[in-house]
Amino acid sequence: MNRTVDAGKTLIVDGPASVMVSSGLAEVFGLLTDQKNKIVIREGKRLPFVVKQEATFEILLGENANAEEVDSDTIPKSWIMAFEKVLKSKTQPAVIMVLGAVDSGKTSFCTYLVNRLLNMEKKVAVLDGDLGQSDIGPPCTIAYAFVTKPIADLFSLEAENAFFVGITSPSKASEKVIEGLVLLKKEILDKGADFIIVNTDGWVEGEDAINYKVQLVKKLKPDMLFAIQQSVELQHLLQTLESSTPILIKSPSAIKQRSREKRKTLRELGYMKYLKNAKVQSIPLNWLKIEGSELFSLYRTYEDVQRAREIYGLLGMKPLFFREQKEKIVVVIGRNRWIDKSSIEKVEEYTKKKVVVLRKGEEEGLLVGLYNANKNFLGIGILQEVDYRRKFLKILTPVSGEISVVNMGKVKLDRKFKEIPIIAEEDFAF
Ligand SMILES: Nc1ncnc2c1ncn2[C@@H]1O[C@H](COP(=O)(O)OP(=O)(O)O)[C@@H](O)[C@H]1O
Ligand SMILES: [Mg+2]
Repeated sequence: MNRTVDAGKTLIVDGPASVMVSSGLAEVFGLLTDQKNKIVIREGKRLPFVVKQEATFEILLGENANAEEVDSDTIPKSWIMAFEKVLKSKTQPAVIMVLGAVDSGKTSFCTYLVNRLLNMEKKVAVLDGDLGQSDIGPPCTIAYAFVTKPIADLFSLEAENAFFVGITSPSKASEKVIEGLVLLKKEILDKGADFIIVNTDGWVEGEDAINYKVQLVKKLKPDMLFAIQQSVELQHLLQTLESSTPILIKSPSAIKQRSREKRKTLRELGYMKYLKNAKVQSIPLNWLKIEGSELFSLYRTYEDVQRAREIYGLLGMKPLFFREQKEKIVVVIGRNRWIDKSSIEKVEEYTKKKVVVLRKGEEEGLLVGLYNANKNFLGIGILQEVDYRRKFLKILTPVSGEISVVNMGKVKLDRKFKEIPIIAEEDFAF
């Protein structure tokens, strides 16, 4: 489909679609597009093409995609002013942090700042702290990339390094997110940048979210803090952050809100991207350091054989794997075995700890983060099996380098890389 749009108007395209400007000139979040580049808009995403000189677009629309003309620019004036403030920043390198609820325009604002700064020949890095809707790096990670040329979608960037958090929501991993962001920020600073744009997750409401965001600001010490607000959702956060002088900017009215389901689908596209060409690898457990897992945390350390024997006696069986932790006892049994309730109660009474029974096979599908011996992030994988007898892990991953550290996530994926709900949290023993 071809479409000609007058200067001053904006063509809004909802993906999945691809757009090429065959004549004239348009701008997407500060990226000037002409005949040279074809822009792909993913499903669930929307891009505004601001027409600078009368332009003809060649548009390919996928299922449920849409292209629509509007009269004005959809980039808020406050974004333009924000860029000017950033450019005048007295400190360099300058750390610019962006806060806002889900679907407020955080990613788009970061893209806009990056492109406009690149047009001014600045050295720019993006540190992506939105683990649930990550633009750079696999879902459930935070990651960064230096951007060398203007882009329409941060998703097309390749992560230079990442930090695996292993969960989609920061509410259950706020310390880990902060730790990762601090670490990666330092790494970017060591490499040298004029501007570091830090994107954050959309968890902004409620006491826990506010405390977490306050900590994040305190630890990352941004030189400039932007907050994108739709209505009044940031009110409390902004009051609490007053001493960091946040700059309030508008959320574009043309924004596309996504349902929870849509955000999950977008994440699944992310898993797919990072698990493409994955193969199964079998790795001996004693070659590996296992992190993020209570189950394996004591692996290779001294075990009280006498105590284990007593517990097996009470259970009436020898399990595949057994681990006594501070507050609970984890017992792994074969797929077709079972332990009767009274035996479990006997152990609980004797040890004064809760017994968690895992069945072999329950580990299948867990998302894992993989690192080499120098703690460089290699990629993600899916745990296929823990071979408790032969002491091997089987992991589906495209990673080819030598894996030394496996970080166990708390997300499970099926064979088509769709997220599946995980068992009750208190029983999550991995
Ligand atoms: N000015 C705008 N005009 C049209 N669409 C926009 C505009 N700003 C953002 N969008 C679209 O709205 C959706 C949500 O914005 P996004 O930046 O991804 O939000 P967030 O990162 O806060 O979740 C995206 O598909 C984005 O491309
Ligand atoms: Mg985003």
